[in-house]
Amino acid sequence: MAQSATTALSAYPKGSATVKFFFYFSLFYLLLSMVMGLIVALKSVNPDFLTGSRFLQEILSYGRLRPTHVNTAVIGWQTTAFLGIMFYGVPVLAKAPLYSEKMGMFTAVYWNLNYIIGAASILSGYQTGVEYAEMPLLFDIGVVICVVLTFWNLFQTLVRRNERMLYVSIWYWMASIMFLGIVYIIGNIPAGWAGSGAAQMGYYYFYMHNIIGLWITVVGVGTLYYLLPKLSDRPIYSHKLSLIGFWTIAAFYVWNGPHHLINGPIPVWLMKAGIIPSLLLLIPVWSVLANVIGTMKGVWYKVSQNAPLKFLLTGALFYGLACIQGPFQSLMGPHAILHFTYWTVGHAHMPLFGGFSLIQFAAIYYILPRIAYRHIYSRPLMNWHYWLSVLGFIIFGFAMWTAGIIQGFEWMDGKQLGASFVEMMQSLHIFLISRAVGGSLMFLGQIIFVWNVYKTVKSGRLIEADDPILRKTS
Ligand code: HEM
Ligand code: HEM
Repeated sequence: MAQSATTALSAYPKGSATVKFFFYFSLFYLLLSMVMGLIVALKSVNPDFLTGSRFLQEILSYGRLRPTHVNTAVIGWQTTAFLGIMFYGVPVLAKAPLYSEKMGMFTAVYWNLNYIIGAASILSGYQTGVEYAEMPLLFDIGVVICVVLTFWNLFQTLVRRNERMLYVSIWYWMASIMFLGIVYIIGNIPAGWAGSGAAQMGYYYFYMHNIIGLWITVVGVGTLYYLLPKLSDRPIYSHKLSLIGFWTIAAFYVWNGPHHLINGPIPVWLMKAGIIPSLLLLIPVWSVLANVIGTMKGVWYKVSQNAPLKFLLTGALFYGLACIQGPFQSLMGPHAILHFTYWTVGHAHMPLFGGFSLIQFAAIYYILPRIAYRHIYSRPLMNWHYWLSVLGFIIFGFAMWTAGIIQGFEWMDGKQLGASFVEMMQSLHIFLISRAVGGSLMFLGQIIFVWNVYKTVKSGRLIEADDPILRKTS
């Protein structure tokens, strides 16, 4: 039985060894990044935590652990998992095998070796000091080589496709991998030579903003569009709307860098030139949400029966909420209060964890049975994963937003130095404890997720030849 299921499923997609390689490593980075985030959170509650020896004081210092957490979350977990998702989705939508499985495997091995050594380098203190771009140049070159190889492999797959129509996810995915290469090169290579001060900040925030906006967001929305019709069993509400979203995201996102420097060392006209596209971003965001709502019309009841759909729609909701929060905090008034505070930390985790990580969990739950030929081991564990992730994030997020507002107003009251600064930090203590509690629940949720994946691959129920999954492979 399992044999015939394997034969039927293996017609598409070829390249599942590459997909598996990317997925398994991404799960390793997911757990690692969470442990590191949690240690940073515990250190902000008790600065003496894990400082028993000179070695620990150095390796686990805030200055090393924080960037390693951020890189391992965004590049390690999210980017590695998205590469796996694209290596699965593009051949399936093209109805053609992956152009080169060998090239795919080479990319996967190189990517992971490069990332692991790059992250170890950040942790051991060899880093550029530029936020989100801490890995030394050698590893940046490795990232770019892997991005080019991925683009070429997927592009050649599309050239040989057997499906005439290019589904909207293909637009998003192919553009996102191209954007990743361009943004990564500009952000990591010439940025280092662009002098200092405001000019360098201009380059830097082009990079910082767009690694999130043109890579994570675009590949994430492409994944949402891939999964939505499959999990809801309904066609996308409007193909036209999805393309309006695509072109407006490509047109507006790129100009947003200066909104990170509002009230900062750049000309006022440049700040305003960053605020206007921040407001215009509401167009692509709402085009996605309107499509989600339109597609789900009449089938909302499916959410309670289908855990991956629950992850997907909650991810879309948090993405939408982050993009209501974003334009608000880019206005000069709110920004003057919230900048440099914990509010931004809460904002950063909402789309990255609450939004796109949840969408990635849905994708892994959807794709894994189709490449491992086994059903997900446990439905209750999927639900535990969901509730711990969502509740954990809500505690984390509200702790950070409340702390940020208090912090901003107390600074405005002049509590910036000496005893009054210490007093302000004491008033934030309870929120830092809440962040650690929320983060622990998020971490627990991911342990359950990884355990469920492990058990699925090892001993999940085998897929039978007449399983409905076989009818829904593409
Ligand atoms: C309409 C959409 C959005 C707007 C207008 C927006 C606006 C902003 C602004 C103004 C800041 C700077 C806050 C400060 O430093 O005071 C910021 C920070 C940030 N945003 Fe957003 N945001 C949006 C959506 C998103 C999305 C979808 C993501 C993730 C995929 C994201 C990730 C981040 C991150 C990681 C930071 C922290 C940057 C840092 O470390 O300095 N944002 N956002
Ligand atoms: C996939 C999940 C996660 C992603 C993508 C992620 C991403 C990020 C990003 C982008 C930042 C920088 C924010 C900024 O500069 O404003 C950050 C900082 C941080 N994250 Fe996470 N994170 C994740 C999970 C967690 C978890 C589970 C915890 C546990 C408590 C955590 C704790 C922290 C802490 C403590 C900081 C430093 C903030 C500070 O300096 O106070 N993160 N993370």
